[in-house]
Amino acid sequence: MYVCSCFGVTEQQVRQHADAGACTPRQIASACKAGTDCGGCVRRIQALLGRGACPRREASDVNALPLGADAGLADAA
Ligand code: FES
Repeated sequence: MYVCSCFGVTEQQVRQHADAGACTPRQIASACKAGTDCGGCVRRIQALLGRGACPRREASDVNALPLGADAGLADAA
């Protein structure tokens, strides 16, 4: 199924780019131009990325915790 009709980009292609590390619509656009013409597909791309198409998103969220966050909680208890 096509996600971006301007460039003929399919849902599967978006998922492949996400698997290769693209986690934002901008990174998908860099990889295949999807979203860079009329922009009508950007929300669909965001929805695909939000549905777990990007396996690295969870890992980066975990790494976003500040160092020592656990220690701060322990001190407060
Ligand atoms: S449908 Fe993707 S840029 Fe137009």
